[in-house]
Amino acid sequence: MNNNAIGVFDSGLGGLSAVKQMLKAMPNENIIYFGDTGRVPYGNRSKDTIRRYAMQDANFLLKNNVKMVIAACGTVSSVAPDLESVLKVPYTGVVLPTCFTALKESKNGKVGVIGTTATINSHSYKTRINQKNPSFEVFEQDCPLFVPLVENGFIDRNDPVVKLIVERYMSNLKNAGVDTVILGCTHYPILKDAIADYMGKDVLLIDSGKETALYTKKVLSENGLTNTSNEIGNAQFFVSDTPDNFEKIATLFLEKDMNNKAQQINIEEY
Ligand code: DGL
Repeated sequence: MNNNAIGVFDSGLGGLSAVKQMLKAMPNENIIYFGDTGRVPYGNRSKDTIRRYAMQDANFLLKNNVKMVIAACGTVSSVAPDLESVLKVPYTGVVLPTCFTALKESKNGKVGVIGTTATINSHSYKTRINQKNPSFEVFEQDCPLFVPLVENGFIDRNDPVVKLIVERYMSNLKNAGVDTVILGCTHYPILKDAIADYMGKDVLLIDSGKETALYTKKVLSENGLTNTSNEIGNAQFFVSDTPDNFEKIATLFLEKDMNNKAQQINIEEY
C-alpha cells in the first residue's frame, strides 16, 4: 500500500481525459496533474524538444513524490518511450494500453489510428500492433487541428466547424473499412461524439484516457502500490501558463467542477 499521489502529465488539457477515468476507476487515489499549457502543443515539435519537455514534466511530478508517472499524452508516449528507463517509479504512456484493447476488440483486423503529427510520424501504434499481430492492417491519420479545437472549447458535435474538420480527417479511415479507431491523443476523447457521428455506430472508438486509467490501476495493484484508504482522494492541478482558461475547459473534460484551483509553476526550473 502507498498513499502517495499518482503523477499525470500532458502538454495541456488532454490528459484530463485520463484523470476523469482515474477518478472513476480509483476514487481513493490522490492525483497530481501537470498540464504544460505554456508550451502546448507538443505534437508539431521536434523529437528532442518533446523529450526535453517530457523529462521536465516527469521531474516536476517526481519532486512531488509521486508513486507512478503517467504520460497521458499520445505524443510523449510515442516520441519518448525511453522515458521509462530513466524513472525510478513505475511508468506508463498511452500507446501500450490502447493497442492491447484494439488487438482484443477488432473483429476485421482493420484498425485506424488518429493522433498528432509527431505521433503518426513515429508509427508507434502501428508498430506495437503489428509486433503482436502482423496480419492486422493499421491505417494512420494525423489530425493537427483537433488539439487547438479542443483547447479552445470547440467540441459540440453539432458545430459545423467541428463536423467539417472531423469529416476531413476521418474520411480515409471510413473508406478503408476500419471497425476500430484508436483515439491516439488524449485530447481526442472529448471529440468522441462528433467522431462517432461520422464513423457510425459499428465502429469502436478506443479512448486512450480510459484504457490508460485501467492499465494504471492494474500496475499499481501488481506493484503493491494501491492506496487502501477509504477516503476519497485529492486531485491537485498544476499548469505552466495562467490557470484561467485551463480551469474553464477542465470542467468540460472532467465533467465536474475542480475541487482545487489550478496553480501555475515555472516548468523551466525542473
Ligand atoms: N494530448 C496530447 C497528445 O496526446 C496533445 C498533443 C499536443 O500537445 O500536440 O498527443
